[in-house]
Amino acid sequence: MGEKEKCSLGSESIVYSLNVSSTKHHRGLFPVDTRIIALANQKGGVGKTTTALNLAAALAQKGKKVLLVDSDPQGNATSGLGVTREANGAKNIYGCYIGTHETADCILPARQKNLSLLPASIDLVGIEVELVNQDNREKRLKQVLRPIKDQYQYILIDCPPSLGLITINSLTAADSVLIPLQCEYFALEGLALLVQTIRKVKKNLNRELYIEGLLLTMYDRRNRLTHSVANEIQKHFGDQVYRTVIPRNVRLSESPSHGQTILEYDAASSGAKAYQQLGAEFCKRSNRNARG
Ligand SMILES: Nc1ncnc2c1ncn2[C@@H]1O[C@H](COP(=O)(O)OP(=O)(O)O)[C@@H](O)[C@H]1O
Ligand SMILES: [Mg+2]
Repeated sequence: MGEKEKCSLGSESIVYSLNVSSTKHHRGLFPVDTRIIALANQKGGVGKTTTALNLAAALAQKGKKVLLVDSDPQGNATSGLGVTREANGAKNIYGCYIGTHETADCILPARQKNLSLLPASIDLVGIEVELVNQDNREKRLKQVLRPIKDQYQYILIDCPPSLGLITINSLTAADSVLIPLQCEYFALEGLALLVQTIRKVKKNLNRELYIEGLLLTMYDRRNRLTHSVANEIQKHFGDQVYRTVIPRNVRLSESPSHGQTILEYDAASSGAKAYQQLGAEFCKRSNRNARG
């Protein structure tokens, strides 16, 4: 793919560059091959949380040790695993950010084997203001994850729908970014800004950061527009788009209100099958990226 791509999806024609490609994954000094993936898109409602929850569950089902980090003050990934705000008291990501709690003390095991959660708290809303005058404020989450990262094979960070300091912290802590895109006409609106942000983080804070992949979500087979949007995204981004596409599936939207992942709620649903397939594709790709 060229340095610059022109694409006419969305409300206006946008020119963007997605040349933040896979690079060799350096394992640094750590013998354990931990990979930290931020799920980011500043648009709300594109499937970040649904993907964080269900990809985490699919990877855990494959026997990988997975930590889901809820980095959104709304706490949808936390409640999606059936954890209430009160359940863990002040032991949550906010306590880790401000240094009142050790990360290991805040992590909860999920019902599913191999899956753990670092829960969010509504207090996280204030963190951007609280950190504003601190040194290394973009590196807080990286420091928070450092003492526990070796215990997991995958750490998935569910980002809020903004490009503020919480997302910057997530991108700084991560090895790579997974970008969910909703299959709709405006799918690519804002992608240029996200890519620009990723580039800035890569330049100034996290040289190894790369794009893990683009994931098409809420695909509606019966809708011709969805179909053409998906085709166009695949045409433009080629290999960077996962072959697995997540269908629109009502069971996926129901499961969080039961505090269950789709694998617990309805393992036979098309949503569950899609996230299992994504888990398999994700592992294959991430091995390829690790080899460089
Ligand atoms: N594949 C899907 N099929 C049906 N509903 C979905 C699907 N993915 C997400 N949803 C629903 O769409 C809404 C937004 O998804 P969510 O994952 O919370 O997005 P984000 O975290 O990007 O804001 C939620 O109500 C969720 O249950
Ligand atoms: Mg969300």
